[in-house]
Amino acid sequence: MPLSFKEVTYTYSPDTPYEYQALRGVNVNFTLGKITAIIGNTGSGKSTMIQHLNGLLLPTSGEIEVLDRTIRANEKLKDGKSLKKTVGLVFQFPEYQLFEETVLKDVMFGPQNFKVSEEEAKLRAVEALKLVGIPETYLEKSPLELSGGEKRKVAIAGILAMEPEILVLDEPVAGLDPQSAERMMELFRLINQKYHKTVLLVTHNMEQVLSYCDEVAVVKDGVVIHHGDVKEFFREDEILDELGIEAPMIIKAKRLLKQQNIVIPDDVLDIPSLAKAIAKAVKK
Ligand SMILES: Nc1ncnc2c1ncn2[C@@H]1O[C@H](COP(=O)(O)OP(=O)(O)OP(=O)(O)O)[C@@H](O)[C@H]1O
Ligand SMILES: [Mg+2]
Repeated sequence: MPLSFKEVTYTYSPDTPYEYQALRGVNVNFTLGKITAIIGNTGSGKSTMIQHLNGLLLPTSGEIEVLDRTIRANEKLKDGKSLKKTVGLVFQFPEYQLFEETVLKDVMFGPQNFKVSEEEAKLRAVEALKLVGIPETYLEKSPLELSGGEKRKVAIAGILAMEPEILVLDEPVAGLDPQSAERMMELFRLINQKYHKTVLLVTHNMEQVLSYCDEVAVVKDGVVIHHGDVKEFFREDEILDELGIEAPMIIKAKRLLKQQNIVIPDDVLDIPSLAKAIAKAVKK
């Protein structure tokens, strides 16, 4: 089944002085069951694009396929509620996502909205909050009392508690401390590998793209200009330079070593393997 965009355009505030075409003909077919990074400069259209996946924005033209349904321009969204259950979207600014009186109620809201019993919703909420690293003492706090990073964690818990098939995360670890960010990325990997959920995540962090993602889609000026395997992507120095993408540290280190005539095999992509490969090359 597809998860794809076909010739999708989107114009904000049409027929007003603020009219702006943010998507200019997006074509991309995401691979189900994988973790895909969506990257691209500020303002390139990433957030606009992913908000089409759960019907939050409807295309100005073109169509979006989400598993067995098609979202078309100029057509009312059918059964939007079930689409929101299939595709769990975590907003770029999570404060827009939190509105209940307490953290617990907030995370329970999603499942309860989809007819899960109160008891089950509570179990799921407590579990999800634990997974994202929110302490139990926070359950009765107001979301307004939380720090930015804590709000982000609670927003993610709220989406996890709904158990969506497809998880779409807009800069999910932006603003988290490095340890929390790592832990959150590990959690997305677990959800992908253990529960076979498809994960799309917007990020500006190339280290995360290399370490955690299978595929990468590059958005530029409202168009997807590249989509493919992450490891291959980072091997193509010319593409990276052309797109102005700063390569992850390990790739940069390999480039510098190559200039010193130390050639490291393609599959070496982490520090311990790099250290071994250098030692081996030096011994020769
Ligand atoms: N509500 C809006 N009304 C008008 N224009 C908008 C609106 N939201 C976004 N835009 C414009 O659409 C373009 C794409 O915005 P979008 O938020 O999708 O970018 P992005 O790739 O997510 O950027 P970032 O990396 O900064 O989050 C930008 O030029 C932005 O100014
Ligand atoms: Mg954005």
